[in-house]
Amino acid sequence: MVKITNYLKLIKYFWLNIKSINLIMQDNQVQIFDTTLRDGEQVPGCKLDTAQKLVIAERLDLLGVNVIEAGFPVSSPGDFKSVYEITKIVKNATVCGLTRAVENDIKVAAEALKYAKYPRIHTGIGTSDSHIKYKFNATRDQVIERAVKAVSYAKSFVEDVEFYAEDAGRTENEFLAKVCEEVIKAGATVLNIPDTTGYCLPEEYGAKIKYLKENVKGIDRVTLSCHCHNDLGLATANSIAGVINGARQIECTINGIGERAGNTALEEVVMILSQHPYLNLETSINKKLLYDTSMMVREKMGMPVQPNKAIVGANAFAHSSGIHQDGVIKNRETYEIMNPEDVGVTESAIVLTARSGRAALAYRAKKVGYELTKIQLDEAYLSFLKIADQQKEVKDKDIHLIMNQLVSI
Ligand code: KIV
Ligand code: ZN
Repeated sequence: MVKITNYLKLIKYFWLNIKSINLIMQDNQVQIFDTTLRDGEQVPGCKLDTAQKLVIAERLDLLGVNVIEAGFPVSSPGDFKSVYEITKIVKNATVCGLTRAVENDIKVAAEALKYAKYPRIHTGIGTSDSHIKYKFNATRDQVIERAVKAVSYAKSFVEDVEFYAEDAGRTENEFLAKVCEEVIKAGATVLNIPDTTGYCLPEEYGAKIKYLKENVKGIDRVTLSCHCHNDLGLATANSIAGVINGARQIECTINGIGERAGNTALEEVVMILSQHPYLNLETSINKKLLYDTSMMVREKMGMPVQPNKAIVGANAFAHSSGIHQDGVIKNRETYEIMNPEDVGVTESAIVLTARSGRAALAYRAKKVGYELTKIQLDEAYLSFLKIADQQKEVKDKDIHLIMNQLVSI
């Protein structure tokens, strides 16, 4: 009888936890934690007001992200208000607020999150020797003590507490494992292992995650999270190395915006996992909304994206050299590893430049209403090259001009 009561208690405990933590998860599911509104928004020039943040938060929820880091509530009354309002409109995602390992930060974050269906407090402290010495003038033991205190305090407000070991990328693995073990005991549900300075190589970052998986007691009760910065252009590669080695959450931003060189780009990790199915790792992202969401964030933040940006840049599905154009016109897969429609881009573009060949000119001429014979195409191509040598790109209006001047038409 006693045993049955205990068993029922256990079921009740897990049920309550599962209800308050948005974490019913299969092992091949990678949680997407979007920090566009926190790490992304702290970039100079990207500042948003509450109304703009609400529009983006609503879109992120629709996109299917699992966690929205809505802000750093103690940092300003405006950020507090944004987090507070966002919790009221987000329907599916966990809403998360950032704090330092400081009691008042945590109390304020808990207040800002009080209407969230699934609230999460994200607290933490620097763990690298450099942070411990220069930022805190403390010892390793003191840092562990502060970390544990912060997690326990956050736990008195919400069930779902994520701990970040800032500068984990440059933290010695053995010490990092000790920190992780202690915060798990204090109740952390997610462990964020940030490569704050974007220093790690993918192999190194992957090995760090593997080391934690193998050496931290209780690690199987928590989710390991990758939070990688792009200082050496390795944020995406590091995040992928992280999930291959056992992490199950990626922290990222739309268009990869964020401190300095930015964060891991959400659209990149989502498409990498989707285009490499043998990895057997999935996300819940509605990929068809990726391009529109990217456009929305550019517009609201006034932060343009370079044309060669993977997935969402203007040239991501544009072909300009004759050899590539000929291939793509024959079969898209010759030079495209994903279908533009899958990410919400209407179609691949055949851009006419002086490097384009006859196939591309015939293709574009047909699109604007001219079906050319071989003789007509030869003649048109000569005029085309003259124009193309004088300007960067030959547009539809130029094609009409070329066609109107054709003798053979
Ligand atoms: O880069 C970082 O370490 C962070 C933490 C605050 C999570 O953004
Ligand atoms: Zn960061």
